[in-house]
Amino acid sequence: MERVFSGVKPTGHLTLGNYLGAVRRWAEVDQHRADALFCIVDLHALTVDHDPGRVRRLSRQAATLLLASGLDPRLCTVFVQSHVDEHARLSYLLECVATDGEMRRMIQYREKAARQRARGGSVRLSLLTYPVLMAADILAYGTDRVPVGDDQTQHVELARDLAARFNQRYGQAFVVPRAAKAGVAARVMNLQDPRSKMGKSDDSGPGIVYLLDEPDVVRRKVMRAVTDSGREVVYDRERRPGVANLLEILAACTGGNPEALSGVYETYGALKKDTAEAVVEVLRPVQDRHRELCADPAYVEGVLRDGAARARGMARPVVDAAYRAIGLLPQVSGDGDGDEGGGSVEGGGGLGALNAAR
Ligand code: TYM
Repeated sequence: MERVFSGVKPTGHLTLGNYLGAVRRWAEVDQHRADALFCIVDLHALTVDHDPGRVRRLSRQAATLLLASGLDPRLCTVFVQSHVDEHARLSYLLECVATDGEMRRMIQYREKAARQRARGGSVRLSLLTYPVLMAADILAYGTDRVPVGDDQTQHVELARDLAARFNQRYGQAFVVPRAAKAGVAARVMNLQDPRSKMGKSDDSGPGIVYLLDEPDVVRRKVMRAVTDSGREVVYDRERRPGVANLLEILAACTGGNPEALSGVYETYGALKKDTAEAVVEVLRPVQDRHRELCADPAYVEGVLRDGAARARGMARPVVDAAYRAIGLLPQVSGDGDGDEGGGSVEGGGGLGALNAAR
């Protein structure tokens, strides 16, 4: 069965972009068709200035929202990244395969580092190495496919490059993964600035619809969305980004097509009204379920505990094999169940371990 891995970073409240670009598809499609893991990638939240209590709260909230969005622990594995040591263990090995030039070329690093410096702050080293940790997240599970929004494709490309390079140098240790983008709404834009992505860590609250926004807040944000100077409702991402964004959101929420929907509306006002109602309806069941789950924190904790145990069991043999392949001496445990036979990829690691983990 195909292995799927994806994750969400607890740096802010989850947005409509996270939902339409990634999470909804995980729940509706991926968990049913694949052996899927979904991770709250909390280590990634430490790459920018952070408040420890807020990261903890957002991690718990993200886990609750993933379950409220329909992820079912009987069908998939939901867990927290820092509960499985293999991510950090593998990240270091991949740092020994990646180059600093490669890291400095990453678009998200350049944008975020520039923003941070402009505010007079310093840039954490972990922001530079972030894509290597993300590659480790993916490669530790022998992942075939990574369902993500548009903004993450460069990072998944890097994971592919690192897997192929490692395999070529040290033997077949990793599956080479591929990114899978959403058809519609792969990049939901900020309602106040439709040329930039709707990002959960951005400051512009009025342009971001959060999954937990009350219906009236959603309506207000959508009705005040920045549109373009024209009057006609046409779908043109380049010249009419504001209207195109609304059409894409409406299409993603109603299962329609943005191009076809553009012919239905005569005014921006009517388009906004229907988009707002469509978003409210999409969010309603998620918010209802979220409320129920908040009343049962022990359930969420149990899901995360079981998820981490399952994930650990999958990642451990893959990462151990990579350690042996790259030339590190295997640990021999006192009780005789060490991996003395696995001194190299040829000696029992590599694909054998990958297959065992799957
Ligand atoms: P994050 O937390 O920024 O976003 C989680 C998922 O939501 C998608 N997304 C969007 N899709 C459409 N429109 C938007 N405006 C929008 N904003 C976010 C993202 O593409 C993503 O799929 N680096 C990742 C987290 C990560 C990860 C991984 C993902 C860490 N390790 C391994 C996949 C595999 C991130 O920051 O996602």
